[in-house]
Amino acid sequence: MPGCMMAADSRHAGLQIALIGANGMLAGMIRERAPHDCNFHLFDLPGFDLNDRSQVVDVLSSLAPDVIINCAAFTNVDGAETEHDLAMAVNGTAVGFLVEAAQDVDATLVHVSTDYVFDGQATIPYVESDLPNPQSAYGRTKLAGEQAIINSDLEKYFIVRTSWLYGPGGNNFVETILRLAAEREELRIISDQVGSPTYTADLADAVFCLLAASASPQPPVSSPYGLYHFANEGSCSWYEFACAIVEEAQKCALSLKVQKIHPIATEDYPLPAKRPANSVFDKHKYKAATGVDIPGWRDSLNAYFLRREARP
Ligand SMILES: NC(=O)c1ccc[n+]([C@@H]2O[C@H](COP(=O)([O-])OP(=O)(O)OC[C@H]3O[C@@H](n4cnc5c(N)ncnc54)[C@H](OP(=O)(O)O)[C@@H]3O)[C@@H](O)[C@H]2O)c1
Repeated sequence: MPGCMMAADSRHAGLQIALIGANGMLAGMIRERAPHDCNFHLFDLPGFDLNDRSQVVDVLSSLAPDVIINCAAFTNVDGAETEHDLAMAVNGTAVGFLVEAAQDVDATLVHVSTDYVFDGQATIPYVESDLPNPQSAYGRTKLAGEQAIINSDLEKYFIVRTSWLYGPGGNNFVETILRLAAEREELRIISDQVGSPTYTADLADAVFCLLAASASPQPPVSSPYGLYHFANEGSCSWYEFACAIVEEAQKCALSLKVQKIHPIATEDYPLPAKRPANSVFDKHKYKAATGVDIPGWRDSLNAYFLRREARP
C-alpha cells in the first residue's frame, strides 16, 4: 500500500462511490484497492447504459454519491475506427452526462483517459500541458471525453491519463503474450513503439491517493483537482515488455512453447488504428500532488505475476 493509503482510510470514512463500468478490468481493481470503509454502488451494462442521459442523471442524482469514478469506455482501439459513433457516444458525449450528474450533487468526478490522445512524436516525456493530437478514432473520442470535463464548470474532477494497462480480469497485453507464448515457438513483437506499462493495482492506488490529496492538499499544491499523467515508472518497447513477460512466466514455471521473440517494426504489423511511437509520461505533477512514489514497471509486472500465482 502506498504511503497515502493509511491516512486515506480516515479521510475516506464512509465515502459513497458510484463506480461506472464496474465490470471492467480497472474497476475490479479499484474495488479491491479501496480503503475499507468505501461504499461502492456499481453500474455497468446491461442494467446501466452510460449513453442514456436521463438514466445517468436520474440514477446518480438520486444516489448523490461523494465520488463518481468512471471506468466505463469503448476500449477496442481498432474497433473504434469502424464503430466511431458508438465509441464517441461512450468515450466522449456520455462523459458530459457524468459531469451534469456530478454538478447536480456536488460529487467529485474521477475520469480515466489515455496516452493515445498524443501523436507520439515527442522526444521527451509528455507533460499534462502538452498539446494532444490523437492519431486514432479511439484517441479522438477519449480526448472529447476529457474536453467535456475541462470545458464544463465542474471544479472537483480528476482526469487521469494512463498507458498500457494490464491487470486481473481483462484482455490485456500480458495475458495475450502468455497465451501466444504457450501456443507458438516464435513471436514477432513491435519494437519501435515505446511507452510505460501500468499495473491496474498501482493506478487504483493513484486514484485513491489523488482523492486523499483533495481532502488534504500537500503544500505548495493548494487545489489538486485537474488533469494528471500516471503510469508505472520507466519505459520499454512492446518487444521489451513481451520479453519481460516471458521471463516472469519462466520464473513462475508456466508451461511455454516459445523459444524466440523477434523485434519487428510497426510497418510489419499493420493495424487499423495508428498508435503513438512514444507515449512516455512525465509524472511530476502527480508526485507533487500526492507526495507518493510510483513503482517501476518491472517491479509491478513481478507483483502481477505473484498475485496471478496466488489467485490464478
Ligand atoms: N486497457 C488499456 O490498455 C488502457 C490504456 C489507457 C487507458 N485506458 C482507459 O482506462 C479505463 C479503463 O479501461 P479498462 O481496460 O479497465 O476497460 P474495460 O475492461 O474495457 O472496461 C470497461 C467497462 O465499461 C463498460 N461499458 C462500455 N460501454 C458502456 C456503457 N455504454 N455503459 C456502461 N458501461 C459501459 C464495459 O462493458 P462491456 O464489457 O459490456 O462493453 C466494461 O465493463 C478506460 O477509460 C480506458 O479508456 C485503458
